Amino acid sequence: MSLPAFQHLEKKIGKQIRFLEMKKGAIGKHIERRFKIFDEKKDALGKKIGKHLREFEQKRDDDLRFIRTWFEKPLAMGAVAPSGRVLARTMARYVDPNGTGPIIELGPGTGPVTDALIKNGVDPARLVLVEFDPAFCRLLQERYPQAMVVQGDAYTLSKLVGALLKTPAAAIVSGLPLMTKPLRTRLRLISEALTLLAPNAPFIQFTYAVVSPIPTRLAGVRAERSEPIWLNVPPARVWVYRRG
Ligand SMILES: C[S@@+](CC[C@H](N)C(=O)[O-])C[C@H]1O[C@@H](n2cnc3c(N)ncnc32)[C@H](O)[C@@H]1O
Repeated sequence: MSLPAFQHLEKKIGKQIRFLEMKKGAIGKHIERRFKIFDEKKDALGKKIGKHLREFEQKRDDDLRFIRTWFEKPLAMGAVAPSGRVLARTMARYVDPNGTGPIIELGPGTGPVTDALIKNGVDPARLVLVEFDPAFCRLLQERYPQAMVVQGDAYTLSKLVGALLKTPAAAIVSGLPLMTKPLRTRLRLISEALTLLAPNAPFIQFTYAVVSPIPTRLAGVRAERSEPIWLNVPPARVWVYRRG
């Protein structure tokens, strides 16, 4: 091979080497990027699995607490398990999260409806949680530190929370097993509740019964109902009562 031909070949090979080195760098960067994306995805997945696991554990613990309390006082509990998500969400949807004024929850238990209210945008600081069971009260205060937890009998509502409210309530959400109480007790409760509520504000109640826990033809009360929630165990329905 002549010298110029050799020099030409050397140049060509040098160029090829530089090109390959550039390519090697680009491939390296690409692999690095892929690894980073993989790590990020792995972390996100780990967090998601962790969150689901914690939710699953909390639900299992709540179910156990609930059934234990039901064994002790079945009539006050009125159910063997906390409300399901669909029922809790249906109740929460009747509350305007952008309004002002306190939102009172009666018989929050382990807090499935409280959770749904907060997930729906309600500021926890607006919540007044009225619960009879002291163990549930402790749990609620731990889970919702911004909410006001009131331990006591919701059937004496005005006496219990009347003085605590600075403005009329924006909504009352009730998980009380109303049907276990005589009609006159239910009527007294709805009458006290509507007095504490702002005009047109809802009193939201769920029931497993096929009829309304409050007579729908009551003077001065407007009633509406949701579709049956078949996905809840047992199936339930939400009733909403307002002044009018
Ligand atoms: C059917 S459970 C509903 C619990 C929760 N809201 C849910 O949806 O899973 C009834 C709840 O009302 C509470 N409760 C029953 N009688 C009460 C009363 N007189 N005053 C306050 N809470 C009461 C029980 O302790 C229990 O937490």
